[in-house]
Amino acid sequence: MKHPSRQKQSAAGFRAKRPEAVPLLDLSRQYLAIRQDVLVAIERVCASQHFILGEEVAAFEQEVASVTGATSAVACASGTDALWLALIAVGIQPGDAVLTSAFSFFASASAIARAGARPVFADVDPDTLNLDAGRARAKLETSRPDIRALLPVHLYGQCADMDALQKLAEEFKVPIIEDAAQAIGAAWRGRRAGSLGLAAAFSFYPTKNLSAYGDAGLVTTSNVEYAEHMRHLRNHGSAKRYYHDEFGANSRLDAIQAAILRVKLPHLDEWNSQRQARAAIYERLFRESGLVDAKGSSPIRLLHVSPHARHVFHQYVIRATRRDELRAFLTERKIGTEIYYPVPLHLQDCFAYLGYRERDLPEAELAAREVLALPMFPELTEDEQGWVAESIADFY
Ligand SMILES: Cc1ncc(COP(=O)(O)O)c(C=O)c1O
Repeated sequence: MKHPSRQKQSAAGFRAKRPEAVPLLDLSRQYLAIRQDVLVAIERVCASQHFILGEEVAAFEQEVASVTGATSAVACASGTDALWLALIAVGIQPGDAVLTSAFSFFASASAIARAGARPVFADVDPDTLNLDAGRARAKLETSRPDIRALLPVHLYGQCADMDALQKLAEEFKVPIIEDAAQAIGAAWRGRRAGSLGLAAAFSFYPTKNLSAYGDAGLVTTSNVEYAEHMRHLRNHGSAKRYYHDEFGANSRLDAIQAAILRVKLPHLDEWNSQRQARAAIYERLFRESGLVDAKGSSPIRLLHVSPHARHVFHQYVIRATRRDELRAFLTERKIGTEIYYPVPLHLQDCFAYLGYRERDLPEAELAAREVLALPMFPELTEDEQGWVAESIADFY
């Protein structure tokens, strides 16, 4: 790691060492720390010559189940497939509707469409950008009985308001499928994401808090029948080789990915704690500089962290005025940023058939214009964070 140190005093009074660049995410630092264990794990699989499912995958499934508090886990090829498997397993059928957040990664909604169902989008809580239970209620009151499931997303690593959503699920008798793709290790009132609904989908895409060296996903559930059904679905709808009782998919996890994930899983809690510590540092730096204030009139705003949530900061996202100009300024200084997400789901071209229009879901639309993800990963240094904060102060 090169961090040539040029001391610089900014207008905002920081005294950060000035790194050459600050990446949004640098996985090579993690690799340096675990390289030997990863190589041993890959060698173990190569020596076994067993590459798909098998013992390595079964062991990983058990380990993840115990981390999340669910009784079963079914590994598959991606988080996108995990959502689809969960939807089919809980009984979603063509013609059903499934309610989800308008502000998420595309797969939260495309998996619903792929199951043959109709996504119903509800607006988000502007403080957390998670599905707003009040707005979800309004949709349930108008679209019931079509809505057969709730699919909240634990956005950026913070659980949606599960108190309110579980109440809705009970009242309207619909199951919850958690989109926990960004939230492995997160919790709500001490219960882990993955055990807060009937089933939960995780992604181990390389940028995630627990990440594979390729695509990988998994579903957790405490319903043994659903788990069994998903094991068939991920393997061409087959319980017995070459006999198929339904259409499934080829969505099996590779043993090499499982072996790598098993090396990483024991580090997850510590890595998540390091992310939390870095989030606290950003917050302190922004408050000290006057970039955020209690009145909300400052140029950037932080998202609210619920006292009931263990937020694992998959992303560290601020809301910024003149967001695109700020982003260009940071890019000029080689500071990595990203916009999760520039287009809310109800306005994606492929969902035009659902008939949503601009201004239908104003909080999601405003968020799409304001959010900016800043560098966040466990190995991010305090100097790098100081330089990010100083640069944002310099811009404003
Ligand atoms: C909220 C959300 N849902 C679903 C997915 C899909 O996961 P994957 O990329 O593993 O298919 C992702 C990840 O990209 C995600 O962030």
